[in-house]
Amino acid sequence: MAQTMIFVLAMLAIISMVEVFAAPSQDLSPVIPETHTHGDMEFKGTIHGVDFQANGTVESIYAQFTKQHPNVVASFNADHLPVGTGQSNGNNSALVARNKILPPNCAACGAWGWVAAETDTINDGVNYLIHHAGTCGVGPRSCVRISCSYSAAIYLCNDNYYGIAPSCVYLASYAKDLTNDCSFWDAGANWTCGQEFDTDAYNVIVHYDDHNC
Ligand SMILES: *[C@@H]1O[C@H](CO)[C@@H](O)[C@H](O)[C@H]1NC(C)=O
Ligand SMILES: *[C@@H]1O[C@H](CO)[C@@H](O)[C@H](O)[C@H]1NC(C)=O
Ligand SMILES: *[C@@H]1O[C@H](CO)[C@@H](O)[C@H](O)[C@H]1NC(C)=O
Repeated sequence: MAQTMIFVLAMLAIISMVEVFAAPSQDLSPVIPETHTHGDMEFKGTIHGVDFQANGTVESIYAQFTKQHPNVVASFNADHLPVGTGQSNGNNSALVARNKILPPNCAACGAWGWVAAETDTINDGVNYLIHHAGTCGVGPRSCVRISCSYSAAIYLCNDNYYGIAPSCVYLASYAKDLTNDCSFWDAGANWTCGQEFDTDAYNVIVHYDDHNC
């Protein structure tokens, strides 16, 4: 008994030493939306071929764009489904493989206590994103909501100590991976919850969010 105890203590000592030596010199703990959602996503690029810059979710940015360029949106709507409706059918295959860490982490939801979002609404968010041809910026060590409607949110979280601005269309492909791989059927609807990382120390998260959305 005493020997077992000593053995266990010795093992614990070794494990804690390993952890000390393995600890990174900088705090690289992941940022999570619940504590790190600061500021707005910063969009720079074009919508329907027109230069545009604005901050917020893609839904609010597109609403601002529509207000300023009603004719551009009307002529787009004349021969397309309105942006944000219907299935996202953007072909991102050229961008898909780049720096993704696959498969997505669906178990993150259980670990962080996240609640699932309705998949149809996330798909609408993906459809908004693929019409934002440009970059979706996020500040250092923070998360921004790049899309939110009807309590379904897509976040971009940046673990780096500097700001980054990935392509919005590329980020859409992450949300699409999540609806494909981290979805389930419950109470008559398809739901999605999960997180997918990029090797550049950022990640995309899909979960329920009823705050101003
Ligand atoms: C967006 O936010 C950034 C950083 O806060 C600011 O510098 C920029 O002027 C804002 N852009 C617009 C179009 O409001
Ligand atoms: C997407 O584009 C790639 C390369 O251009 C093509 O091979 C593929 O068939 C396209 N997929 C769809 C669904 O259109
Ligand atoms: C949920 O919908 C997505 C399409 O957005 C589909 O890929 C996925 O298979 C569906 N999941 C379930 C469990 O039906």
